Amino acid sequence: MIDLHSHILAGIDDGARSIDDSIALISQSVDSGVNKIIATPHLNIGSFDNDLAGIEDVFHHLFNKIIELNITVELAFAAEVRICPEIILLAKNKQLPFLGKHKGQNLLLLEFPDSHIPPGSEKLVAWLFEHNICPIIAHPERNRDLWEHPNLIDDFIKQGCLLQITAASLLGGFGEKSQKLGWHYINLGLVHVVASDMHNLKRRPNRMLEAYKAITEKFDINKANKLCIDNPNSIFISNAFIKSFKEIL
Ligand SMILES: [Fe+2]
Repeated sequence: MIDLHSHILAGIDDGARSIDDSIALISQSVDSGVNKIIATPHLNIGSFDNDLAGIEDVFHHLFNKIIELNITVELAFAAEVRICPEIILLAKNKQLPFLGKHKGQNLLLLEFPDSHIPPGSEKLVAWLFEHNICPIIAHPERNRDLWEHPNLIDDFIKQGCLLQITAASLLGGFGEKSQKLGWHYINLGLVHVVASDMHNLKRRPNRMLEAYKAITEKFDINKANKLCIDNPNSIFISNAFIKSFKEIL
């Protein structure tokens, strides 16, 4: 499986705290059948002030450790970018780390606050599309506005946005409302990718394998493959910052 959303870079957000945490999360993922991971630390101005150069530094440090430990995994990096007006400046300055490409557009993992959809979001999304940037909305099933009004996602879908559902949500890890809404969006065929959004081994490990099995049971193996392997893989291979274990061999 291919995991496009993870907090495995140490010390730069609320995910892994140390390189040992990073390795533990990666090892647990590999053991559960994940062989490609994109590190997506929060880029949330005022909370997690990460930038492209800083993320790249930590990423290379981690990759060197992966080589040293002989772990067979392919890694890449991007960021989970919280929606805010400053995104426009970051885009203009070419400082947005993209997940990869989708239909020729740069794919941005875009996060709304869990509490609501900020006013003006659609305008910002329109600006992004005008500048060849396609948002993939991170875990919409955890958004309280969408709990109450699932159809509020329709305008973003019409604009061309993709959706990423978090594996643990489908298993009830974020409560009943997130679970229900996650499956609802999958039922409607609106979901492009399922990813782990892993943060730590204790409370938020990689649950993609369980989600893969659950999707297979509710639908079929083709659906599970599409959401957990095929769609994320075509994004992964277009990431600009892939580091492959194979390169070193
Ligand atoms: Fe995340």
